[in-house]
Amino acid sequence: MNEIYYNDEENEWNKALLMYDAVLKEVSTKLEILNNEFKLAHQYNPIEHITSRIKSAQSIARKIRIKGKELTVENIIKYVNDVAGVRIICSFTSDIYRIAKAIAKQDDVSVLQVKDYISSPKPNGYMSYHMIVAIPIFLSNDVVNTKVEIQIRTIAMDFWASLEHKIYYKFDGKAPDGIREELRECADIISFLDKKMLAINETVKKYHNDFNGGNISEDPSYLIHEDLPDSLKKLFGTIVPDD
Ligand code: GTP
Ligand code: MG
Repeated sequence: MNEIYYNDEENEWNKALLMYDAVLKEVSTKLEILNNEFKLAHQYNPIEHITSRIKSAQSIARKIRIKGKELTVENIIKYVNDVAGVRIICSFTSDIYRIAKAIAKQDDVSVLQVKDYISSPKPNGYMSYHMIVAIPIFLSNDVVNTKVEIQIRTIAMDFWASLEHKIYYKFDGKAPDGIREELRECADIISFLDKKMLAINETVKKYHNDFNGGNISEDPSYLIHEDLPDSLKKLFGTIVPDD
């Protein structure tokens, strides 16, 4: 596969933009197909919603500067992995891994990088599953492998990340310690919430299956309260079972 190379920088950039727009379309279609297939088989959508964006020229220029490279189209394509970005919001953590696996195993998808900030959250509490993948874009006389960043997270993780993002910019990256600690604490609560919501969902599914099999049993597994953050113990302490 050929690398994009043009003499005229402006033409070159317009062609790169066309590639990035195309790769967003490719990923969106792949996700829509997976979501529909899953819905047919399991009667629910693993994907809540999807957003996509092309990185602004200003952010691209800033990133190239931070990386100490000259601002050329060639360098942007080579060094900036997230010019095209897709964010997938799921209901449950289990859906995140299911979607990631389904994307990664497609023949035309090359996974270039994975960062699992769910199994290893960032020190500030950030959680998400990140993949950089490359997908071939077929042109009339050429095939161009094009990179796209895919971020997958739950609704709750997304809620946290958007607030943290606002705070980060408000304080120019230097939020007061108190606010940073509060955010960290919220991340623990969110992680707990996601686990609890997943457990409830598993229990509901089990009820459904048992009902269909004529055997309704009570499963209190969703009441599991391990990992309850200290801040929640005083709230839930009175209603969790003492087994
Ligand atoms: P950049 O952060 O994009 O320069 O690249 P990186 O190599 O550090 O990649 P990483 O996968 O860590 O982050 C990629 C993207 O994830 C960022 O551009 C953000 O959109 C998001 N992200 C990463 N860390 C955080 C975080 O602490 N808070 C929030 N709100 N978003 C984050
Ligand atoms: Mg980025």
